[in-house]
Amino acid sequence: MINPILLCGGSGTRLWPLSRKSYPKQFSRLMGDMSLFQTSALRLSGGNFAAPVVLTGSDFRFIVTEQLAEIGVDPGAILIEPEGRNTAPAILAAALWLEKTDPDSLMLVAPSDHVVPDPDAFRAAVSAGETAAREGQLVTFGIKPTYGETGYGYLELSEDPGDFSPRAIPLKRFVEKPNAERAQEMVSSGTYLWNAGIFLFSVKVILDAFRAHAPELMTPVEAAVAQGKPDLGFLRLDPDSWAKADDISIDYAVMERADNLSVVPFDGGWSDLGSWDAVWRETQQDGRGVALSGPATAIDCDDTLLRSEDETLEVVGIGLKDMIAIAMPDAVLVADKSRAQDVKLAIAALKEKK
Ligand code: GDD
Ligand code: MG
Repeated sequence: MINPILLCGGSGTRLWPLSRKSYPKQFSRLMGDMSLFQTSALRLSGGNFAAPVVLTGSDFRFIVTEQLAEIGVDPGAILIEPEGRNTAPAILAAALWLEKTDPDSLMLVAPSDHVVPDPDAFRAAVSAGETAAREGQLVTFGIKPTYGETGYGYLELSEDPGDFSPRAIPLKRFVEKPNAERAQEMVSSGTYLWNAGIFLFSVKVILDAFRAHAPELMTPVEAAVAQGKPDLGFLRLDPDSWAKADDISIDYAVMERADNLSVVPFDGGWSDLGSWDAVWRETQQDGRGVALSGPATAIDCDDTLLRSEDETLEVVGIGLKDMIAIAMPDAVLVADKSRAQDVKLAIAALKEKK
């Protein structure tokens, strides 16, 4: 069996005003009727998948149980992080939990805020990585890069991915979040893929990797799990121990340092809906690149996203080009699409005003 590990701790600040500290983007119904968290959980359920282990913060624990109940998925465990310490401590906590409950299994670590339109193709990619994972590899999933994104990890392949048929290929190198120049070089070279941020490995092999590459995390995270308190079906990790764990992502803590990495190339469609321009790209557009959601109307607009998050709130754009407008009952965002990454500045600016 494969244990899905669903990470839902990030706050998604670039998708303000839809994504809020108290209700981050993975729980919002950003694309369609289900939240990204729900579609992620469904993508990894049934067949060869065990019940998911969910890692989240205390504020979101009831949203998690409610949203899982809505789609009929029973969680295997919900681990509550006293505070966000990034993905390395979270994944280590999940591995230590599984070491007690299912030590010989594989774990598939997945963010809960990505869009993968073809779940069957994705499950085929996961199957293609299983043998390598059982043989001791840390398996990543590689996406064909289309531009020099600096917010992603890059995977250097030891051979050409060819037609992207799913199979595990050994990796030469993992480069997390390069600068713009280096990112552009890697895209142009044709030998790198984007890291999808999804990982497949065995519980034993990832624990060995943490011991080898991030030994300083072991003591605090082991104590946080061992001294965790069961609470209404959740496991609350021990806050004092957890606070001693470094704030670091798995990409830096393990992936950049390990030499037993493989990649399964995946071209079934994937998007990290990190910002509004990505949402625009993933939303159905008319012939002029206009994407509408909710009660919204565009007159003579091009390459623009207009969204209303309230059925009683009409949004109308006239003569706009490369714009983003998001209307919520208590906040409206209007931005140039090329500045989509800067939406996080809005939050900083609003905090200062308070
Ligand atoms: N439970 C929990 N706790 N989840 C967390 C935490 C945490 O402290 N921090 C982040 N996450 C979740 C996020 O919600 C997201 O679903 C996932 O873990 C990845 O974290 P991000 O913060 O979104 O990482 P990133 O986008 O900067 O980079 C990662 O993903 C890229 C692809 O989207 C890396 O793996 C990159 O290499 C990769 O290209
Ligand atoms: Mg991300």
